[in-house]
Formats: sequence, C-alpha cells, structure tokens
Amino acid sequence: MSKKILITTPIYYVNDIAHIGHAYTTIIADLLARYSRLIGHDTYFLTGTDEHGQKIEQSAKQRGKSPKEYADEISKTFKNLWDDFGISYDKFIRTTDEDHKIGVKAAFLKMYKKGDIYKGFYEGFYCVSCETFHTKAQLLEESFCPDCKKKVSLLKEESFFFKLSAYEDRLIKLYEDKPDFILPRAKRNEIVNFIKGGLKDLSISRTSFSWGVKLPDELNEPEHVVYVWLDALMNYLTALGYGKNEEKMDFWPAKVHLVGKDILRFHALYWPAFLMSLDLPLPSHIAAHGWWTKDGEKMSKSVGNVVNPKEMALTYGLDEFRYFLLREVPFGQDGDFSKTAMVQRINSELSNDLGNLLNRLLGMAEKYFDLKLNSKDIIKYHKKDLKLINDLIANLENYIFTMQISKYIEDIWKVLALCNKAITECEPWAKIKEGKTDEAMALVSFLANILARVSLLLEPVMPEKMQVLATSLGLEITADNYTKLIKNEEIIETFKLTKPDNILFPKFEEETKKDETDTKKNEEHKDEDGLIGINDFFKSEMKIGTIIEVEDLKKSKKLLKLKIDLGEDKPRQILAGIKEFYNEESLLNTQVCVVANLKPMKLMGYLSEGMVLACKDKNGLILLRPESKKENGSKIS
Ligand code: MSP
Repeated sequence: MSKKILITTPIYYVNDIAHIGHAYTTIIADLLARYSRLIGHDTYFLTGTDEHGQKIEQSAKQRGKSPKEYADEISKTFKNLWDDFGISYDKFIRTTDEDHKIGVKAAFLKMYKKGDIYKGFYEGFYCVSCETFHTKAQLLEESFCPDCKKKVSLLKEESFFFKLSAYEDRLIKLYEDKPDFILPRAKRNEIVNFIKGGLKDLSISRTSFSWGVKLPDELNEPEHVVYVWLDALMNYLTALGYGKNEEKMDFWPAKVHLVGKDILRFHALYWPAFLMSLDLPLPSHIAAHGWWTKDGEKMSKSVGNVVNPKEMALTYGLDEFRYFLLREVPFGQDGDFSKTAMVQRINSELSNDLGNLLNRLLGMAEKYFDLKLNSKDIIKYHKKDLKLINDLIANLENYIFTMQISKYIEDIWKVLALCNKAITECEPWAKIKEGKTDEAMALVSFLANILARVSLLLEPVMPEKMQVLATSLGLEITADNYTKLIKNEEIIETFKLTKPDNILFPKFEEETKKDETDTKKNEEHKDEDGLIGINDFFKSEMKIGTIIEVEDLKKSKKLLKLKIDLGEDKPRQILAGIKEFYNEESLLNTQVCVVANLKPMKLMGYLSEGMVLACKDKNGLILLRPESKKENGSKIS
C-alpha cells in the first residue's frame, strides 16, 4: 500500500561551501528517497539551507556583505551542486523564506501559550561555531567548546526559555519504547547518558544580535530573535506548510531525519521535545551517520585537506563516487576518504563484477543469439541459483530503513557473484559447440533477468548508470517494474538487447604511487634535474587575500602579525618577516598572495596559518600582489 514518506537532510549552514560531508548526508538521503519512490511510496524529499544566527552574521560581516546577500550567494552554491548531482529533492527550503518565518513564529506562540516558554536571563557560555549553549563544566580547559574545540564566549542576556526539563520523563520513555528511534541503535546510549546528567531548560531566544526570526508580534519583544536551532529544526514542518496552509502536512511525521553524528543531540532530544510541546507526532527515525576524515585527520580549510565532492565526481564519475561513499563505510561509523580505496572499488567491484558481467552478457547474446533472448528454460536449468538469488533479494528491503546500506549493496554483490559463477559453471561457449543451444540460451537469459533486477535495486545507489544498464536490457525503471520483478519475482520472458555507446564502468589507473592526496609524507619529489611535476606544484594552494589587521610584534625585529581575509569563515593569522620593509599603513586593506595550505606552525609563540609570498633581492623585499583587486580567496594558478 502506498504510504506518504518524508525524508530529510539537515539544512546546511551557509558559512561554508559544500564539502564531502554535506555531499555524504545528501547522497544517503537521496538514496532513501529514491528507494522509497521505487517501492511505490508517495515520497517528499526535503533539503535546504540554514541561514540565520550569529555565525552567519559574523561570516557575512567579515566579507563586507549583508547577511542576506551572503546567504543568497552560498545557498545558491548548495542548490547548484545538488542540481548538478541530480539529487531528487522535492523542496529546497531556506530559513530566510517568508513562509518559514511565519511557521516558526506560529510554533513559538503555540509553545508559549501552552506554558512551555517563559522569560528569564541567560548567563553561560556559547559556541558561535556550533551555535550551542554550554555550561562551564562541559567546556574543555574552561574556555573551549567540547565539540568543535573553538573558543566559546560568555553570554549574559535576557532570554526566553523552553521548559525542556518538563519533558525529561517523556523523552526517556520514548527511547525505551522505540529502540529504533535513534539509528544506529548504539548511538542511543549517547543521548540517554546526556539526559542522565539532568535536563536544563533551553534558552531559545537571543538579544545580542539581530540576524534571525523575530518573536511573534503578540509577544511584543522586538529585541529578541529565535535561537537558530529552534528556527532550523522547524524547517521540517514549515516546508510542509506548518503555520500557513498546511498543504503538505499529510507527509508528517517524517520517516527519517538523516543527520551527522555531531548534530544528533539537537534532533534526538530537543526536536522531539519541541514536537511534544506542539502536540505533533514524532518522526520514526533519527539516523546519524559518521564523519569522513582525510588521512585520519578532521577535514578543515586551514589544514587544506578538504575533499571537494564536485572534483571527485568530475574525475571519477558521479555514480562511482556515490557508490564509494555508500559502500565503503557501514552507516554510523567514521570513514577515511582515500582515492586509492575508491579506485580499487571502482575497478574490482564496479568494472569487473558488474560492468564486465554486462559485457559478457552482451557479447554472448550478440554472438549466439543476435541480441534476442528467450527465458523459457531458465527454471529448467537455473532453479537453484534463482532460489538463492530470490532469497537474497527478498531480504534487501529490510536493510534500507534500518540504515544498513553497505550491507544492502554487499548482498547485491553476492547476487552478481552467483551470476559470474553460473557463467563459469555453464561454459555456454562449450554448450554452443555441443549443440546445446537451449542451455546456453537459458544461461544468457538468466543473466539478463538478474541484471534487470539489479538495475532496479541499484538505481537508488547509482541512478545514471543503472538507467544505462536498464535501457540496454529494454527495461524501464519504474515502481511497477519493481513490484513485478523484485516483489513478485516475475521473469521477463523475452529481451531485445541493445549495446550501450560506452563501457558501463571504465577502469582507472591504480593511484597508489601517484596520488599525492593519499600519502601524508610526500615532501620531496624533485627528479634528478631538479624539476618537479605539475602535480607537485599544484600541491601548494595559493590564494589572494586582504590584510585586515597588522600588529607589530615588539619582541621581533622582523615579524609582523597579520590577519588576512581569505574568504573563509574567519581570517587567517599569518606571521610575516617583512617588518623592515612594510608598516601598518602600507599593508592595511591591501591584497597579497598567500600559500594557504601550509601546516600551521608557531613563530615567537604565535600560530602562523600560512605564508605571504614575497621577493627579495639586493634592493630589498617586495610583496607579490595581484595587478588589480580580486575576490578574497581567489585561487592562484
Ligand atoms: N545547520 C545545521 C543543521 C540544522 S538541521 C535542522 C548544520 N549544518 S552543517 O552545514 O554544519 O552540517 C550539515 C551536515 O554535514 C551535518 O549532518 C554534518 O554531520 C555533516 N558533515 C559536516 N562535515 C562532515 C564530515 N567531515 N563528514 C561527514 N559529515 C559531516 O549542522
């Protein structure tokens, strides 16, 4: 029976452009949405951008832009990326949308009228980067955020509070009654332990900045804006018309809110409490995935190890990249991104096991049967294999909404292995020679039938490539065909195959030796002539930036401490040995060239996060500067 299914991604902060972590969350959600449609559910897939709050306000200011102007710009880069990636979202919500603001105010008012919101005074710590309140006991070394490790600030301001403490018992009961509310189940303990410390009421309005949704007019509190996490979480309802026309509210409650482990607490604890207060049903699952690292380190712009999803998709193919992300790491665990591992999976699993199976099928079908197949003898010759495959496939559906995605793919590869084994055992070329054409036909049509099923099952994982596979088999990827071939285990009686224009999964050269990004220590690569390759040159990431602060380090004869805006969320601190040649006046608000991916190091006790390019000869030193003004963060190549 068709159900209404809502699948969501977190809405992404607009202080950063999309990286592999965002792509990972979105691709998993896309897989769920596509799968849900394929099995015949009326599906609504929601994504978007989170645009309010102090962090965004600050980032915009650093770039000399208004928050809205800045949010428009970055929100667009997310939307464009998802469009380029063929993400099948139904709505892209922005928290600056007027309808969203109306819904947030309506919810605030409802909770207020219910008596769940009261006015008070907040005194405590706040991490702007995570947009999170912390108690002193939670901080690292008394002043650093326990999550992102950045310095927190002390807040003292009037605030409205949500009576979170009143929901403690109901929340504990929720986790007990619904053991699958948080997936993977192991993550539940994290939340239960957090509650064990006792739940304090949550500050849900701020007065020290203004970039947010104003409180409802009825409250007459023009100084307050809604806390960005309440604002953001509400997107899951406002996207459905909550507080306005309720147009799509029949999709509520959500089937899965997909989140990264870092934001599980907001979704598994605050969000159900808000929903209880709003008298709304709770989502079925909050599913939290792990984090991707690069060479074992957290990805960050200052280290320069951020994996760019677009670049990966362009180099290795979008579907190959999706496959790797979904297959490599069991859901919930952290993973280390490596091109070498990706190439290995492409070559052995996609190219050999799947692509080559199609080649063998097409080769035999063309040579022996003019690409026309008849399945009448499949049961006679392949009953046993068919039973094994049917059993494997029947189990697959259970894996998806329990978030065992890598297991889902793994079991499809068991099906492919059975197909490849069947070819070896049958030796259809020998059967043809022996005149046993029926047996050869049974094998080839068996392969075509199983690949047809595989194209349906893998469509949510690799939509484009599976379209090519299905077309070559003369099949359409539809919910009807899914029911026929997967649920009812029907056999396609005849085929007229066509050969795709290109090979399904071309191989890539193994990158172990050449891939600089996969090796940590690759300092020296000069050859005997003292020359380096272009890739060695491109290892340094050079950018244009504007000097926005200059401090004279009195203890040093040479060093000036600069703050340089490289178009990132905060300026870089760079120590430059240029004091003898430049002063504050000649540097401030001028542009320079910066090596941006150097490992940070300490000079005179200060962290230096990059290097300014300069040139020195007997006449002195000059800084290398762009000929005319360029946007901060522009790459030099
Ligand atoms: N705006 C909030 C979410 C509000 S939802 C009501 C937010 N945004 S975010 O842009 O910072 O992060 C969005 C998602 O990206 C999170 O699920 C986060 O886990 C994910 N990732 C960010 N970096 C990541 C990795 N390095 N690896 C995997 N995912 C990570 O939080």
